[in-house]
Amino acid sequence: MALARLGILISGRGSNMMAIVAACEVGVVPAEVAVVVSNRADAPGIAWARERGLATAVLPQRDFGDREAHDRAIVDRLQQAGVEWVCLAGYMRLLSKPFIAAYPSRILNIHPALLPSFPGLHGQQDALEWGVRVSGCTVHLVDLELDHGPIVVQRTVPVEDTDDVDTLSARILEQEHHAYPEALVKLLSQPWRLEGRRVVFEA
Ligand code: GRF
Repeated sequence: MALARLGILISGRGSNMMAIVAACEVGVVPAEVAVVVSNRADAPGIAWARERGLATAVLPQRDFGDREAHDRAIVDRLQQAGVEWVCLAGYMRLLSKPFIAAYPSRILNIHPALLPSFPGLHGQQDALEWGVRVSGCTVHLVDLELDHGPIVVQRTVPVEDTDDVDTLSARILEQEHHAYPEALVKLLSQPWRLEGRRVVFEA
């Protein structure tokens, strides 16, 4: 099977990016990482990607007039690299319509809560404060709304009485590093379709 070409967008640490890169390198995910793009020059993940010999680009939003101009520049860079699938991995920006239209149902995001509960920037803290007994992570297709598109994979973790936001986040993050490669394997290795919001695998 031909390897799919992935573009990964980050803003920070990049541990999900590292998990995807590793899963591609060992052949678990039938894809190759064509480029890693960061909107922040100081993102630790972009230094890691560079050292790893991956193609990288830093495109800070302040260099562009508005969100669409910024997104167009990112899409241009992705297209130059022949990217077919986009993985948002801790990328802290909402995508504009033209970006989503350039990759219809081909953009993934990971969120550290069981959507549709606790979308937004503080998924782990919100879940903890709500008092849920189970939380987890969600890999979903990206649409115009924040943390909203069709769900591909979810993984659960228990919430312990002794948890604080750091211990719960760490437990969830461990599962994120499995969930993202798992979602890519599913989407890239078998036929699937959307039925409303449902991602239905045909094999
Ligand atoms: C992860 O918790 C992810 O779910 C959220 O942002 C965090 C990114 O972490 N969207 P990392 O940069 O992948 O380490």
